[in-house]
Amino acid sequence: MSCKTTATNIFVLMTNQFYINQYKKLTLIIFTICAVGLIIFTCAQTFFANSYLFNFRTELKTLPKLEEIKHEDYSIRPKIRHRFHRYPHTSRYLPQCIIIGVRKGGTGALIHFLDIHPNIAIASTEVHFFDNNYKRGLNWYRKRMPYSFPNQITIEKTPAYFVKKHVPESVKKMNQSIKLLLIVREPVERTISDYTQIWGKLVRNSSYPTFEELAIDPATKMVNPSFAATERSLYDKHMANWLKYFNLSQIHIVDGDNFRRNPFQEIVEIEKFLHLEHKISEKDYYFDPDKKFYCIKGFINRCLPDSKGRQHVKVQDYVKTKLRKFFRPHNEMFFKMISRRFENW
Ligand SMILES: *[C@@H]1O[C@H](CO)[C@@H](O)[C@H](O)[C@H]1NC(C)=O
Ligand SMILES: *[C@@H]1O[C@H](CO)[C@@H](O)[C@H](O)[C@H]1NC(C)=O
Ligand SMILES: *[C@@H]1O[C@H](CO)[C@@H](O)[C@H](O)[C@H]1NC(C)=O
Repeated sequence: MSCKTTATNIFVLMTNQFYINQYKKLTLIIFTICAVGLIIFTCAQTFFANSYLFNFRTELKTLPKLEEIKHEDYSIRPKIRHRFHRYPHTSRYLPQCIIIGVRKGGTGALIHFLDIHPNIAIASTEVHFFDNNYKRGLNWYRKRMPYSFPNQITIEKTPAYFVKKHVPESVKKMNQSIKLLLIVREPVERTISDYTQIWGKLVRNSSYPTFEELAIDPATKMVNPSFAATERSLYDKHMANWLKYFNLSQIHIVDGDNFRRNPFQEIVEIEKFLHLEHKISEKDYYFDPDKKFYCIKGFINRCLPDSKGRQHVKVQDYVKTKLRKFFRPHNEMFFKMISRRFENW
């Protein structure tokens, strides 16, 4: 509660109290003393908190040094954010860049890597504005964004955007020159990973159909193209929809398979795409052999949650082969659209 609201509330309370206790002056005096004490206490707290942050900021003077807050106090930063809401001179802005997909492509890891950059501010959750909450309006969307400095880029990620038909048009309506990031990976593995997540959510429900039962039509023994996980891997279909509304130059494609092995190679390209100085580098990370991925070095080391990088369900080779063959023409179309190839797909 801010100082102002506390003071107003106490003033209202006091006035009420005054009428009730018109003749009980002593009560009023005691009450007033307590109230004034409380006001002074809350105001002092707010004042010290603000001046602490303000000094913190002025000491830092230039934004690049904000990096140090991000690095050294990485663990306390979210708490500061919640407790005091914001640093001075910050506002909530609509995102200037959106990670649109793909689901299970590594969007979570990607946005957390980008968060290390001093000129990037990320939304802390998937907002699902364009797919599920569009009717709530842009102001609702903006309020879901973090407070940021004017020279920071606000980024949101909702991987469902990539596959939802009406999303690109709505994104364009908001900002036709917005920058989009799309992280893709080999479609067969993505499909299996997609299924693994659903299956994992059903607590390894043994009566849930196996991957084979869903991916392959039992009557025809052909790939079932309407299985949702397979459909989401038809990158050509979804990309065509985005390219109806955006220039390819606005969509930076991240190689998700390379991102797993060499995240920093991919990050440098994103920094260039966003016209940001190169800041995110290997020295801020260490490789965690258990998680098989990079974690952020810091006062408290930060890794992705354990649900990430979970073991895939076992899928028989003949099913994978069928899927690979099924996706091949779609991949070729996709490569043509983006003027780039991914080997080993
Ligand atoms: C639209 O996106 C571009 C590219 O990120 C950004 O420079 C511009 O400020 C954005 N416009 C608005 C109104 O947010
Ligand atoms: C397990 O899967 C079956 C079939 O999809 C479903 O009917 C059932 O509700 C699921 N049980 C749990 C505990 O999720
Ligand atoms: C896409 O590029 C073309 C040609 O470079 C340009 O005329 C057009 O304005 C661009 N569209 C958007 C949405 O930026």
